[in-house]
Amino acid sequence: MSLIVARTVQEVRTLLALPRRDLKKIGLVPTMGALHSGHAGLIENARSGSDFVAVSIFVNPLQFGPGEDYLRYPRPLEKDLDVCERLGADLVFAPEASEMYAVEPRTFVEVTRLGDHLCGPFRPGHFRGVTTVVAKLFNIVQPDRAWFGEKDYQQLCVIRRMVQDLNFAVEIVPVPIYRDADGLALSSRNAYLNSEDRAAAPALFRALSIAAAMIEKGERAAAVIKESARRFLAEHPRIRLEYFEIVDPLELQPVLDINAPVRIAGAVWIGKTRLIDNVAASPPK
Ligand code: PAJ
Repeated sequence: MSLIVARTVQEVRTLLALPRRDLKKIGLVPTMGALHSGHAGLIENARSGSDFVAVSIFVNPLQFGPGEDYLRYPRPLEKDLDVCERLGADLVFAPEASEMYAVEPRTFVEVTRLGDHLCGPFRPGHFRGVTTVVAKLFNIVQPDRAWFGEKDYQQLCVIRRMVQDLNFAVEIVPVPIYRDADGLALSSRNAYLNSEDRAAAPALFRALSIAAAMIEKGERAAAVIKESARRFLAEHPRIRLEYFEIVDPLELQPVLDINAPVRIAGAVWIGKTRLIDNVAASPPK
């Protein structure tokens, strides 16, 4: 079956009527496009975990703050469609903003508490924008399963919680982080980096790995671990640390004494580019 491109909500509903009637399991991979191997991994997972694969490509204005990169976010749609076709996706939903937000929205979905730390305080309204658009996509596509990357770990937790709280009939499938050989997590925003910035960028993953190794060796004091990571990152003049935090993996609250599995997450600025990453770590038994 070759790739179909839908630009409107009505087209998606019409195109999905047949596979739904045939009881095909519908999979959804929500993206903002500028697809890289991380997105490809999600689509491959969806291909093997569902009968009909829909990919959405939509740079969602609602999740960008004033002064963020909404306008300059890359939008290589033709290239993205080739990627989806090559990976065997069945449908791409690529609406205009005017289709998704025909009138100014007055209804929002907000998951409380999970946005209190990590990226939340630095991107006010971001997760509300994400959950609102993902709820809309779930209502439009009505997938049986949807794939999300651990690259955006807080986003994954927030969406899982929204699905649980609001009884969406969709199973959320997490996918581990795809990285370049030097450890840098793949991201559409890596395209903003010049060669010097790109060379500095893996320091975030290294700092996270140093922290994870300390935890795995038995260091329990989060303050000590965070200080080591901060000192390591301070040696990289191109990098400005936004946050480096150790949280419990479900509620995403900061942990002081590490006596159970945690998630370590960080955000840095390299020039005008903001990068995030995270790793899991567990104390020795
Ligand atoms: P986007 O940044 O395009 O990411 C789409 C999906 O790909 C997300 O689930 C993200 O976690 C996953 N992803 C990105 N880079 C990855 C990597 N290196 N390894 C594994 N997965 C990776 O996240 C969004 O778009 C938007 O917020 C969206 C959910 C589409 C709502 O607008």
